[in-house]
Amino acid sequence: MPLSFSWTTFDVSSQLPDGWQQDLTTAAAQADFREFPRTPILSREAEHVARISRGRVHASQVRESLPWLYKLYRGYFLELAGETCKERVAPALDNRYGIVLNVQRGRTMRFECHVDSNPLTGLLFCTDHRAGAGGELVFAHDSAATGVETVEKDCSVLRPHAGHLIFFDGRKHPHYARPLLAEPHERIVAVMNFYTESYPESTRPAELNRHLFGRT
Ligand SMILES: [Fe+2]
Repeated sequence: MPLSFSWTTFDVSSQLPDGWQQDLTTAAAQADFREFPRTPILSREAEHVARISRGRVHASQVRESLPWLYKLYRGYFLELAGETCKERVAPALDNRYGIVLNVQRGRTMRFECHVDSNPLTGLLFCTDHRAGAGGELVFAHDSAATGVETVEKDCSVLRPHAGHLIFFDGRKHPHYARPLLAEPHERIVAVMNFYTESYPESTRPAELNRHLFGRT
């Protein structure tokens, strides 16, 4: 029986500072662009896929170059996250992964098909992508789906709108971001981890931190 997938969208564009998109574009230029190895435990890529090309603005860079965004993550966005959840919601205490930017450029980059380890994720879309232009976020309805071809067979598709903040539980729905097919040739999204009392930050797999940071 396929699972239904739901998410909540807030249009926060009026709450963002003047020039926010330009700030994000500037920060995205500093992204770490390379082929990232598949993520242990959480990857839902097909077996033959060992690496996926994409860009990442790490949490330390976000905190330094986008202080207003870091503040929103722990303030207004946290409040909105709480509205979507019955339990009390908390941001990550560990500054290595609380909020990062994912950046895609050109036609070859995409975001890895994976499930989340945290119970609530917030995404702030920072670029607009019209229908058919690629960059959509795709969620499988089948929790066992592995690989983008399988995910695409039965899925919910979300088109990025700049200034829209979405919240969802991505633990059971493999998801990935499609490559860009047309202009704009850059996709920027801020990704935020939130935790709950029944699924606190201490549940984050140690192996994930070892993979990403070389230590737990
Ligand atoms: Fe995710």
